[in-house]
Amino acid sequence: MCGIVGYLGKQQAAPILLEGLKRLEYRGYDSCGLAVLRKKNKIQAFKSVGRISELEKKIGNKKLIGFIGCGHTRWATHGAPTEKNAHPHSDCQGKIWLVHNGIIENYQELKNKLEKLGHKFKSQTDTEVLAHLIEEEQKKEKKLEEAVISALKKARGTFGLVVISGNEPNKMVAARQSSPLLIGVGSGEYLVASDASAIVTHTKKVVYLDDGEIGVINGDGLRILNLDNREVAKKIQEIDWNIEKVQKEGYAHFMLKEIFEQPSALENSLRGRVIEEEGLAKLGGIEGVENKLKKIDRLIIVACGTAYLAGQVGEYMLEEYAGIPTEVEYASEFRYRKPILNKKTALLCISQSGETADTLAALQEAKRKGAMTLGIVNVVGSSIARQTDAGIYNHIGPEIGVASTKAFTSQLCVLALLTLFLARQRQMSYVMGQRIAREIKQMPELTKQVLAESSKIRKLAKKYCAFEDFFFLGRKYNFPIAIEGALKLKEVSYIHAEGYGAGEMKHGPIALVGKDFVTFALAPQDSVYHKMISNIQEIKARQGPLIALTTKGNNEIKKMTRDIIYIPKTIEMLTPILSVIPLQLFAYYAALFRRCDIDKPKNLAKSVTVE
Ligand code: G6P
Repeated sequence: MCGIVGYLGKQQAAPILLEGLKRLEYRGYDSCGLAVLRKKNKIQAFKSVGRISELEKKIGNKKLIGFIGCGHTRWATHGAPTEKNAHPHSDCQGKIWLVHNGIIENYQELKNKLEKLGHKFKSQTDTEVLAHLIEEEQKKEKKLEEAVISALKKARGTFGLVVISGNEPNKMVAARQSSPLLIGVGSGEYLVASDASAIVTHTKKVVYLDDGEIGVINGDGLRILNLDNREVAKKIQEIDWNIEKVQKEGYAHFMLKEIFEQPSALENSLRGRVIEEEGLAKLGGIEGVENKLKKIDRLIIVACGTAYLAGQVGEYMLEEYAGIPTEVEYASEFRYRKPILNKKTALLCISQSGETADTLAALQEAKRKGAMTLGIVNVVGSSIARQTDAGIYNHIGPEIGVASTKAFTSQLCVLALLTLFLARQRQMSYVMGQRIAREIKQMPELTKQVLAESSKIRKLAKKYCAFEDFFFLGRKYNFPIAIEGALKLKEVSYIHAEGYGAGEMKHGPIALVGKDFVTFALAPQDSVYHKMISNIQEIKARQGPLIALTTKGNNEIKKMTRDIIYIPKTIEMLTPILSVIPLQLFAYYAALFRRCDIDKPKNLAKSVTVE
């Protein structure tokens, strides 16, 4: 996601900012920029779409002199990845420049007010309102930090922020609210960053800002204030990590980091989109086609890999609650057969990267045939996001581990929102809408509770990692999760694993069950729980080792196995979001014990841009 670097010291700021930005590249970004304060009222800024190397080319041999500056890598949320939308952003006069991570939720309201006061906006971003707000506050002869505090009190949302001003050419102000920010303390110099990897080569002494804290840096040193403008005492801490470890935020692998990021990833996917009181989903990206969506009577979901399995869960949700006949198809199949489409059919592409070749080709084929096209995509401005008629972004930041984890649970959450949106356009009652909205909102908290069980899952993985064959079984909403559990295990640990709808076991696969073939049974207490119990009995009768996943408080299953994983209770359609997390962890730990290269599994690629 977005990255921030700031510098104030005795050295030239520009090379240090560029170096810091390069160290943040691993987080993923689509545009970048920096601003350097040369002297009173003279700030130079450069921005570029694409890589830092493009930004360097733009700067070329132009003299970028100054000892204070800020830089940013942007991962678009509000507004396309263009040069105008890249940070740093400035006020009307180009005196105040700032970089920002996070989202200003009430930016439209603030923007309207500022426009009435005569402010002219240059970008489509939420961030730019902060520069104008600070400008407005500085008119009241406030110091920069006071103006920042007043502006932040008016803004609602999340921010990691660095501000410089030509009015006060020896100062840099940093602020944090729910978006990480730290200040590196060097000898006679200070570096601000959203992530320690941007600064560890300069200093290992850091002050971590907490929510609602403002760092004021000038020639005299560093002061930390709270939002009441009172000074706060902070400790300088020492980082003993190397770069790679810093980028993984202390986790051994990106996959593990991304598994543990799921509560916050889901929070980001859901932010501002659930209107619990009215039982509605607010999905800005599809509002423009709202009326057309009322008329569709068939939906085809196309995707590949893990995204395809999210689509399978989506099919069950959409048919059960929105009553829309839905088919899910591998994009690689859809593009080569003769699909029957008409004006009342919509095609929904699900893709983390937005670049998967087969999904893109399926989309183009459906467009050619006149179908309406929608997307659930994570990467803003990617090919699929650009080419669909309308869509919903996941907003979960870059996913780096090849095996998809946080993108999957986010896709499930977004599909639940889409279901709510379409169902409320149709037959779903207000009360049912409220119930679903309430449960969706619980997902970040409930995923946290599942993750709290990770040490237990680690022990299970240790116990079973030497086995060479696994079945994953589930029914109804957890049938696709069984396939996803098997997919995760084979992807990262190279153990042979197959996922089945438990009802299919008797039609062949059960021939393989025996004491060397482990079954992982997904049996939350839902409408098909008793059927699952019968299938579990069939495995036990053939001496098959068994791991069971069920709902907290279920004691019945203890008679069948000692290896049980519990998930919290929720409505049936949302259980997959919780049940998949133990399977991700199981695959991760099994791969760890088998010493596999978890973030880069053999033969696999993160984004498959060829057929
Ligand atoms: C690759 C990745 C999978 C992913 C699939 C679809 O195979 O390894 O993790 O699910 O592509 O990718 P997409 O970016 O379209 O979701």
